[in-house]
Amino acid sequence: MVAAAPVRLAVVGNPVAHSRSPQIHARFAADTHHSVDYTRLEAPLDGFVATLRDFAASGARGCNVTVPFKGEAFAACARLSERARRAEAVNTIAFEADGWFGDNTDGAGLVRDIELNAGVPLRGRRVLVLGAGGAAAGALDPLLAARPAALVVANRTPDKARGLVERFAASAARLDVPLSSAPLEAPGAAFDILINATAASLQAAVPPLPAGTLAPGALALDMMYGAAALPFLRWARAQGAVARDGLGMLVEQAAEAYFVWMGVRPSTFQLLTELRREVDAQAVERAA
Ligand code: ATR
Repeated sequence: MVAAAPVRLAVVGNPVAHSRSPQIHARFAADTHHSVDYTRLEAPLDGFVATLRDFAASGARGCNVTVPFKGEAFAACARLSERARRAEAVNTIAFEADGWFGDNTDGAGLVRDIELNAGVPLRGRRVLVLGAGGAAAGALDPLLAARPAALVVANRTPDKARGLVERFAASAARLDVPLSSAPLEAPGAAFDILINATAASLQAAVPPLPAGTLAPGALALDMMYGAAALPFLRWARAQGAVARDGLGMLVEQAAEAYFVWMGVRPSTFQLLTELRREVDAQAVERAA
């Protein structure tokens, strides 16, 4: 019997050399007994769609899309999931016979990480999202669907937070979730869950939140992981919060993408435990 050719997948970005996605998807494939070849593809900044076309034409099944191409991927897809349409960003594409299907699994990954891995239910909680860029937009639909008591979006540039809230207002009303925007310096008080979706951690900065923003024992999560997340995690612990980085979200969004391509949801627990050990060991090495 001739072995079936592996399903070909990739993560497309620029830069993409440090992406952990190949490692994560290789593990999913091994665990689910699929033959998968998942690689990294660095697209030129002016050549994202051409790179994708070549990859699709070579018989690939799909790809993940990362910085800075999620907006271009959204524009390039013939069909979109509802969550990708509203986020106006695509991180997962399936090359289907009737055109490219675009999805956004980032927010679903975030919600699964908070509820299942961190064990914190969102329903009935006060939730604050920092940032109003693509990362925040991707999170809003799944966060609303989890029915928090309130969802506030705070951003350095308040107009962008207002715009984002307007875009999701109908969704929030349908789900009966109070959704509002606020400036970073006055986001409101006593939030149970804080999600840092800003790029501040890339500049080793922590958004300037006033004392009292968090309820005692709140969960404070940064979408980044590794060294970049450390200043935010330190700040969160100093506030008495439970600090969490974005590693769990990374693994969960990948599992959700794997489901889009392969129709099977891989388990994540063991992989996340192992990756956590690796990332923490690297952070200790770097700090030494
Ligand atoms: P992404 O796709 O990662 O969300 P983006 O669309 O460029 O990237 O958005 C970056 C977000 O991080 C924005 O909300 C930005 O705030 P502004 O809208 O005011 O630019 C926020 N951000 C970046 N650096 C920040 C900092 N040092 N402090 C607070 N917010 C910051």
